[in-house]
Amino acid sequence: MTIFALNNSNMAKRILVTGASGFVGSRFVSAMRDKYELLTPSHHALDITSAEDVEQYIAHNHPDTILHLAALSNTWYCENNPEESYKVNVTGVENLARAAAKHNAKFVFFSSDQVYNGNHEQGLLNESVELHPENHYGRHKLLAEQRATAACNDSVALRATWMYDHRREGMPLHGNFVVNIKNAIESGTPIKFATREYRGITWVEEVISNLPHTFSLPGGVYNFGAENCLNSYETACAYCTLLGKNPEEIIIADKDRFPEHKRNISISMQKATKASKGAIKFSDTLRGLEIFEKRNNV
Ligand SMILES: NC(=O)c1ccc[n+]([C@@H]2O[C@H](COP(=O)([O-])OP(=O)(O)OC[C@H]3O[C@@H](n4cnc5c(N)ncnc54)[C@H](OP(=O)(O)O)[C@@H]3O)[C@@H](O)[C@H]2O)c1
Repeated sequence: MTIFALNNSNMAKRILVTGASGFVGSRFVSAMRDKYELLTPSHHALDITSAEDVEQYIAHNHPDTILHLAALSNTWYCENNPEESYKVNVTGVENLARAAAKHNAKFVFFSSDQVYNGNHEQGLLNESVELHPENHYGRHKLLAEQRATAACNDSVALRATWMYDHRREGMPLHGNFVVNIKNAIESGTPIKFATREYRGITWVEEVISNLPHTFSLPGGVYNFGAENCLNSYETACAYCTLLGKNPEEIIIADKDRFPEHKRNISISMQKATKASKGAIKFSDTLRGLEIFEKRNNV
């Protein structure tokens, strides 16, 4: 376990970050290590699937906030390993929520926009729509939200979108929207994007900078990422144009994917913005991509 020193006592918070070695966790720790006292046990040091280990860890280290980022985050892997997905993505969340309630810690964890993947509504979706997720990952995230609330009614679940970043030393990077398109441009291999899919895509840096505002949200479920009204093909074409490339040479319109119904998992950010009195704000997907490119090309 690493404990990072605290620089600003006015902001004193002792935060347990699970999944600190992951894509989001490593970036959160790097950005916030001077602002908070961070407890960052590795997977080996704290396996969240053990209720006993979770309880002991929290009883011993008494964090005032738990930012739970550990998960099986690959939807394909979860689809093929549903029992393991359930154990980590549902039981793991429940274990932490129980311990948070018992030890009076604020519990904030990441759900996903994939909870909306069975919905047929169009437009930006809000948190009150009835849900029918179509894959194990989405179903397990939804179940986790319900179990967390039952165990600790002050829990905050954040329905995150697909996130992106560029390579950063010492931090993991998954395949993501910008990397996939840049690889396609570099290799000259065109890449398909669905015309029948609608989703927000968010720069992880905006996620990290908004996270501290979630620690004081009232318990509940909140969408948490960029709004986007374009379909994935249109979004990819717009990004290509932003990079100064001709989208017709790189982006292929995939009109066959999602034949049953349009896949719309685009989120509305109204609830979190209102609950945080405007503190939580995200650029929409295209504006986020513009800011990302400006910042990373100076
Ligand atoms: N990345 C995205 O675009 C995206 C989109 C929507 C939602 N989310 C959600 O956001 C959260 C963070 O995602 P991420 O991309 O940062 O995930 P990630 O890069 O896959 O990292 C997952 C972390 O969880 C740890 N972990 C896995 N099983 C564990 C266990 N049983 N006990 C303790 N630690 C365990 C991993 O440690 P080891 O590597 O050592 O096993 C790793 O540090 C997740 O809840 C994910 O579902 C992510």
